[in-house]
Amino acid sequence: MMGLLQKGIDWVDARLPVTDAYKKHMSEYYAPKNFNFWYYFGVLSLVVLVNQLLTGIWLTMFYSPSDAFASVEYIMRDVQMGWLIRYMHAVGASAFFAVVYIHMFRGLMYGSFKPPRELVWIFGMLIYLALMAEGFLGYVLPWGNMSYWGAQVIISLAEAIPFQVLPFVDANEAAQMGQALTTWVRGDYLLSEATVNKFFALHVVAIPLVLVALVVLHLLALHEVGSNNPDGVDIKKHKDENGIPLDGIPFHPYYTVKDLVGVVVFLMVFCTVLFFFPDGGGYFLEAPNFEPANALKTPDHIAPVWYYGPYYAMLRATTISFLFDAKTWGMIVMGGAIAILFVLPWLDRHPVRSIRYKGLWSRINLGIFVVAFLGLGFLGTQPADNDFLGLSFTAWAQIGTVYYFFYFLAVLPFAHRFEKSKPVPERVTGGRH
Ligand code: HEM
Repeated sequence: MMGLLQKGIDWVDARLPVTDAYKKHMSEYYAPKNFNFWYYFGVLSLVVLVNQLLTGIWLTMFYSPSDAFASVEYIMRDVQMGWLIRYMHAVGASAFFAVVYIHMFRGLMYGSFKPPRELVWIFGMLIYLALMAEGFLGYVLPWGNMSYWGAQVIISLAEAIPFQVLPFVDANEAAQMGQALTTWVRGDYLLSEATVNKFFALHVVAIPLVLVALVVLHLLALHEVGSNNPDGVDIKKHKDENGIPLDGIPFHPYYTVKDLVGVVVFLMVFCTVLFFFPDGGGYFLEAPNFEPANALKTPDHIAPVWYYGPYYAMLRATTISFLFDAKTWGMIVMGGAIAILFVLPWLDRHPVRSIRYKGLWSRINLGIFVVAFLGLGFLGTQPADNDFLGLSFTAWAQIGTVYYFFYFLAVLPFAHRFEKSKPVPERVTGGRH
């Protein structure tokens, strides 16, 4: 029996290098032996991706873009287990962003974006962009009132693109170009069924294809250069006589088993939210989205889902009106905040990779950055006219936005000049060699 199986494997291997690929990416992929808690979030991103793809396929079997709101109600009430599939997908969207944000934060903390992992980071950033597009398109599909008004706000951003900077285009023509682009995106003169149809095609086919392709490239790029680790030291510097890194262990079975523990704990948390707080207290599914889209009824407060919060806060807090209007500047600031992450590998000029061995200035600023980012996230979900400690939410968001850029443009490039780093060990720490 085994002989027959081996013959079958050999037959395939002679035509497609399956065993080689298995060795390269699993049993002979040597990962640093000191991975910690933060290293669970890569595999968890994969778990949530698979959850989104599977539940998405099942939702597509019953959803209808030409009767969007009613078909979601039908899924929730009449389709067997439809409520479960829908909530798995909706809670899964928030889980996806939570997991990916922590995954990105780990990269920031341990300098995983620094050479030679720049491409791993850039593919990661492209994934993040695709994910943002996917989340927005998906949010429009149930065609609730927040879907409608959210889409209205975001699509109208196309009108703020400053086409007047192009040669031979005056302000009037620029406005016409913006309107033409908005109409093209909507597929109609108003938000309508045509828009939902278009977004449906993009949400279920186009973006998922791009996303999956990017994840494959992300992992291929990672496996080419090898994983970083919490100490930020290069494990390939110390190899045994067979060329195997002394501080590396085979991904399978060591990390497959370890990751399984993380996956089980994650699923426990995920199921708790899924079964007890599926709307996330109004943060995952917002109250106005339980009502059908209504062009005559603007929700009291149009807010994006929490994961767009930081960037929405920046968009709204931008009040500059020099040369362009505030909306255009808002878009520039928001776009700049995302664009800056792409060039992180070239902004961080610190000779030390991991925060463990960077100096005090880097550590304090990483802490402030986390507070600023979470603060902006919160502000993005709140009405702008509240205030805190005598300052309006808009002013707080402005402070957060300025700090965000300060961190990337001043702290990361120059921190090493103002601090004394700790000595970086030769080999990974934590455990016997
Ligand atoms: C669908 C989304 C994503 C999936 C499925 C995914 C998957 C993975 C996996 C499985 C790993 C290896 C395990 C680990 O190091 O945790 C990894 C590593 C990495 N990912 Fe992602 N990732 C995603 C999104 C992102 C994003 C948005 C970024 C950043 C912009 C990013 C940056 C990185 C970096 C820098 C590493 C190397 C970390 C190291 O070696 O220390 N990833 N990713």
